[in-house]
Amino acid sequence: MIVVSHRGPYRFRRSEDGSFTVHRGAGGVVSALGPLLLESRHPATWIAAALSPEDADGLDAGAGGDLGVDLRLLRIDPALHRKHYDVVSNGVLWYLHHGIFDAVRRPRFDIRFREAWDAYVTVNEAFAQATADVAAPAEVVLVQDYQLALVPALLRARRPDLRVVHFTHTPFATPDQIRMLPVDVARSLCASLAAGPAGFHTTRWERAYRASAREVLGADAAIGPSFAASLGPDAGALHEVAASPEARAASGRLADLVGDRLTILRIDRMEPAKNVVRGFLAFDRLLEARPGLRGRVVFLALLYPSRQGLPEYLAYAAEVEQTAGRVNERWATRDWTPILIDLEDDYAQSVAAMERYDVLFVNPVKDGLNLVAKEGPLVNRRDGILCLSREAGAYDELAPAVSMLQPFDIEQMAVALDDACSTPLDERAERAARLRELAAARTPADWLRDLVDHAGE
Ligand code: G6P
Repeated sequence: MIVVSHRGPYRFRRSEDGSFTVHRGAGGVVSALGPLLLESRHPATWIAAALSPEDADGLDAGAGGDLGVDLRLLRIDPALHRKHYDVVSNGVLWYLHHGIFDAVRRPRFDIRFREAWDAYVTVNEAFAQATADVAAPAEVVLVQDYQLALVPALLRARRPDLRVVHFTHTPFATPDQIRMLPVDVARSLCASLAAGPAGFHTTRWERAYRASAREVLGADAAIGPSFAASLGPDAGALHEVAASPEARAASGRLADLVGDRLTILRIDRMEPAKNVVRGFLAFDRLLEARPGLRGRVVFLALLYPSRQGLPEYLAYAAEVEQTAGRVNERWATRDWTPILIDLEDDYAQSVAAMERYDVLFVNPVKDGLNLVAKEGPLVNRRDGILCLSREAGAYDELAPAVSMLQPFDIEQMAVALDDACSTPLDERAERAARLRELAAARTPADWLRDLVDHAGE
């Protein structure tokens, strides 16, 4: 089996003495697939991009010894890579699939975009070629996400014998949204996936994809098989992290910070689709409407840096911090800060925080799945309530046991928070038990099996 993804399962860093250390890569795909492939008796090949010169040098130097996968990292010219990753993948496709363009101003498809699109094609070609070069006859190839949407078509042209599946981890643009793309760009993207099979986290995104492919490719075009297969958390790995010395230390620090106050928690990458600003405004409204909660509740926001090469992301991060600052200025007292933000990417601390929340707040404008919404309930020890946006892919599976959020409606989210903070203990226990069941229903192994099963189609 070959996994092809833009971000790899490991990152390498050069120490001061010139040697390399190996670290787990970030992101949901990695945490789901990494342990599975490591345990598997049939070692897989994993093809990814070197995200820094250190990555490629570290791998070449043999750092990390036996990584459990046959890792190949592609060295991509930095200027080309920036156009592929920042401009097309994250600046256009991410915005398109999440429906977060501010259409009065963006997108603008100018000559700069055209150059970037050429780079996107070139990088996808490099991935397709690298895969074609190493794949055994009829091997299964699992291509991940929107950064590599052209790989299926490019690979089939080179190696028709391979059993290629493409899986999109984001939502998919609706027909009206995909019509924003230049005509040829939309065609290339849809035609590549339409050779099928194409997978998504929910039937909602799968339907959007089929409707968009139909819109772009025409009524008579053949659109290959598609499927929905959601990812689930690795409960064993989560509990292992929860028991680690790092998580125990973080747990102690959090207990000192929060005390016996109610804790509303969010854990997100700092990025516009996560809807952090409206979340803080809903919390502000809650404190305004419920004086009795002042001083008794904190909003703990663990927000990891993400895609800092994009000006939109940096501007959004500044807006998030300003909003939190305003809310805190309005309500803080000498011994109470209502919103606590932490910007460190600290996985052990995140897991420790999941154990102790009373309310987990997940309010994205749109999200392919949102693994945190499934991970939190599995490790939480306080029968916490999950407030979940109906625009997150995970909502389709967890709906019966969550408190629904309409992510644009500040009043509605404030009321949902209020209800969550005041739900009686017996009802909380009942809902948490149901939620644990739903959140544990799918494992990474189920997801991987679904992909491999569809590979034959
Ligand atoms: C998240 C998203 C994926 C994306 C991944 C890597 O897991 O859900 O759709 O591919 O992050 O993104 P990045 O830009 O950090 O490499």
